[in-house]
Amino acid sequence: MANQRIYLSVPHMSGDEQPYIADSFRSNWLSSVGPNLDGFEREIERRLGGGVRALAVSSGTAALHLILRAAGVTTGDRVAVSTLTFAGSVWPILYLGATPVFLDSEEVSGNLDPDIVEEYLADAAARGQLPRVLIAVHLYGQHADIDRIATACERYGVTLVEDAAESLGATYQGRQTGTTAPFSLLSFNGNKIITTTGGGMVLAKDETAIQRVKKWANQSREPSSEYLHRELGYNYRMSNVLAGIGRGQLKVLDSRVTARRHVAERYAEAFSDIPGFTLQREARWGLHSRWLSVMQIDPAQQSGLASALVAALEEANIESRPVWRPMHMQPMFADAQVVGGAVAKRLFETGICLPSSSSLSDAEQSRVIDAVREWMMPARLRRSA
Ligand SMILES: Cc1ncc(COP(=O)(O)O)c(C=O)c1O
Repeated sequence: MANQRIYLSVPHMSGDEQPYIADSFRSNWLSSVGPNLDGFEREIERRLGGGVRALAVSSGTAALHLILRAAGVTTGDRVAVSTLTFAGSVWPILYLGATPVFLDSEEVSGNLDPDIVEEYLADAAARGQLPRVLIAVHLYGQHADIDRIATACERYGVTLVEDAAESLGATYQGRQTGTTAPFSLLSFNGNKIITTTGGGMVLAKDETAIQRVKKWANQSREPSSEYLHRELGYNYRMSNVLAGIGRGQLKVLDSRVTARRHVAERYAEAFSDIPGFTLQREARWGLHSRWLSVMQIDPAQQSGLASALVAALEEANIESRPVWRPMHMQPMFADAQVVGGAVAKRLFETGICLPSSSSLSDAEQSRVIDAVREWMMPARLRRSA
């Protein structure tokens, strides 16, 4: 239908999920144990390589909660994190009674700025205020420039965590996202590049850490026939049915990356004649999965903020959204410490995420392109285009 709603990023099933779901029903493995869970975890480990072990859980937020606890975060600690991110990167810091410190972005990928990380850690060390953990978020399908960040963390004994919730399928210097730090997390929320309808994954290089978080995620039941508990627990395991969806989805990950990259390239080409309206660059350090296509508006060449374009697209029944509102600009974190923040603020004000689903048809892409051009181009230029 001509004016049917176009969403930002929707689940895209392949059909390969059904046999795994049917198998869980046939075998009656319908809880938080079963062959799909083991299979999904081993397949993710094989796909990512780099010696990671995997544990499937109920969400990316739950995965980060478990990871921070495994890294020793406790009441009164500091945890440094990218300010330009979704709140799911931050809530678990608060669950553990710790305090977030927000760090600014670099210009190319919008991810953590290695210069800011180095300066912040040196300063924090001098003051005796080092964070226990630093979380590097890989935004919108693009990896952070992690090597310098990792070296700085090692120098000061700070545990590095990768928030790869948005970047499955991306690479960094030939390595898969999720394998460049001692701990990482994935999200399989419905809007992600592959989905289990809702779910997440803990990734760790250390097998003992995986066994500890597995116990916590399973109500901290001790290996005993009685219900014996020595530690605080959570009900965070993924269901075997949903892990089956994940197994089917993982098979098509590469084609999903190709499709999303294709959407981004089409936008870049279609808008190439609009001054000051450009697709976020692909950084030199790796493959961008283009989970979302992010366009940047240059205020020197275009008037109007990203939020105005979001509103204009809404009029055409097209869902888009501004780049994440930085955490240091959230009422919830009004009193938090922030290092820098101006780059993230600008990216938020000038960045817009356009519909990016891997199932977005050519006709739907054309509708988005026409609606954007309508708003961006002065009438005179539109006529000659
Ligand atoms: C960067 C980032 N971190 C964490 C999360 C949390 O993942 P989940 O929604 O699976 O809890 C998300 C998104 O959903 C995210 O985009």
